[in-house]
Amino acid sequence: GQLLLPRDKAHPPVVFHWIPVLGSAIEYGMDPLQFFERCREKYGNVFTFVLLGRRMTVALGPKGSNLILGGKLSEVSAEEAYTPLTTPVFGPGVVYDCPNHVLMEQKKFVKFGLSTDNFRAYVGMIEDEITSFLNNDPAFSAFQDKNSLEWGSFEAFKTCSEMTILTASRTLQGPEIRAALNKSFADIYHDLDNGFTPINWLMPNLPLPSYRRRDAAQKAMSDFYVNIIQKRRAEGRMDDSDMMAALCGQTYKDGRAVTDREVAHMLTALLMAGQHTSSSSVSWTVMHLANSPAIVEALYQEQVKYFSNPDGTLRPMTYEEMKKLPVLDGIMRETLRLHSPIHTIMRAVVSDVVVPRSLAAPSEEGQYIIPKGHTAVASPAFTQVDRKIWKNHAEWDPYRWIDPSGEAAQALQEYLTGDKVDYGYGFVSKGTESVYQPFGAGRHRCIGEHFAYLQVGCILVTLVRNLEFQLDEIPGTDYSSLFACPKGQCSVKYRRRITSDSR
Ligand code: HEM
Repeated sequence: GQLLLPRDKAHPPVVFHWIPVLGSAIEYGMDPLQFFERCREKYGNVFTFVLLGRRMTVALGPKGSNLILGGKLSEVSAEEAYTPLTTPVFGPGVVYDCPNHVLMEQKKFVKFGLSTDNFRAYVGMIEDEITSFLNNDPAFSAFQDKNSLEWGSFEAFKTCSEMTILTASRTLQGPEIRAALNKSFADIYHDLDNGFTPINWLMPNLPLPSYRRRDAAQKAMSDFYVNIIQKRRAEGRMDDSDMMAALCGQTYKDGRAVTDREVAHMLTALLMAGQHTSSSSVSWTVMHLANSPAIVEALYQEQVKYFSNPDGTLRPMTYEEMKKLPVLDGIMRETLRLHSPIHTIMRAVVSDVVVPRSLAAPSEEGQYIIPKGHTAVASPAFTQVDRKIWKNHAEWDPYRWIDPSGEAAQALQEYLTGDKVDYGYGFVSKGTESVYQPFGAGRHRCIGEHFAYLQVGCILVTLVRNLEFQLDEIPGTDYSSLFACPKGQCSVKYRRRITSDSR
């Protein structure tokens, strides 16, 4: 009905598709970012595509992100968009199965657990966990033979996922979860994870065995956490430096205490939110490092420069020191620019959203309406690799952040210090309008950023202190799960690092 509406009430253009309900599902599903690029060429920054009967309206670029991530609660809703996927996995009463103001309070409770004091303790725990993984996991057998300089290999995504869940359980999730990882907990986690896919979102009510296993796993996981809480309480042991200890005993503004079930479900949500995003980031970074000898050397030399003992060995980093390492920082920033794990951010449109047409194309006047019932989509991941914004947009180049005369580094500096300068890189504000938002923006912004930097950084540093890597080709991206991960198997070669003195 677009043609019949007066110009100011017109809806955004609909992406052409052959099959009515299916719509653009295949093109979007194969490679959302390339699909968005093709659509932008034809329709501008704002367009609607059909995805299995749903109307998805995309607003690209920093202004599109601002429109959607900074949207009013009365117009866009995250909970309505995500709840069919997340509630069966996390359990009731938390995150998107509660009003937005309750989520905002729950995020504050979680921040309480993400304290600097806890982070200080985590650095050593992560190093310890990775060191013992290197010394014990069969993937690193070539490292375990102390007299050998043979090359071995590990499957990047699988191995990095294992290191991620081990370190997250050791730190945030707590000792009981860490201890159960090799046993009961692993199966429950696996079934739950298999229920956290695009199909679960698109078709929430399929009578499939995997859905039943997901539901059983959610209950089992919830009981698992609740039992631990009760045991800790009985033993008077509520002062650990983990998230469970931080969440128990919190109260909402209306005086209601957080229940044990809610704590259990928040811990499940954090496990799922952190696992895929961080494991994808660790894998991509390890693969790029293995493919870039000069950069891995720079990262190692940064360690040597700051942490050398008189006898040539390297001492542990502290949390404060770790935050001030430009090479490590640039490497992580650049991986998140090029490989944002979350490629599509969604909101249900709950009342009509007005979009200036200038957002779709600068020369246009008037406005579009995104009608109630559509799903609004922002894609910082698209903007972060936009050829119109970034030099060598597709290249993994940590130096764009490190080199202090580099444009990105300067723009970032001004962004961080609050002096607004528009370099065309567009770090124009600290708000929702930016070309670099791997952690989202606005009220739903990630609270796990600092933990993720700590976790990913400590894993990388421990690996690089011990190993040399080699990889000839970076794999493409698999978008078929909810998170962008490496496509297919990718075998990274490694061997024990020859330290400077023995060289
Ligand atoms: C939200 C990315 C790690 C917990 C988000 C959002 C993004 C994001 C893009 C916004 C989603 C939206 O607006 O719909 C990432 C990346 C990570 C990471 C790239 C790692 C590299 C973590 C970790 C945790 C976590 C480790 C937990 C410890 C959360 C939570 C939210 C969130 C609680 C808020 C959801 C909301 O308010 O709706 N994250 N995340 N994330 N993330 Fe993360």
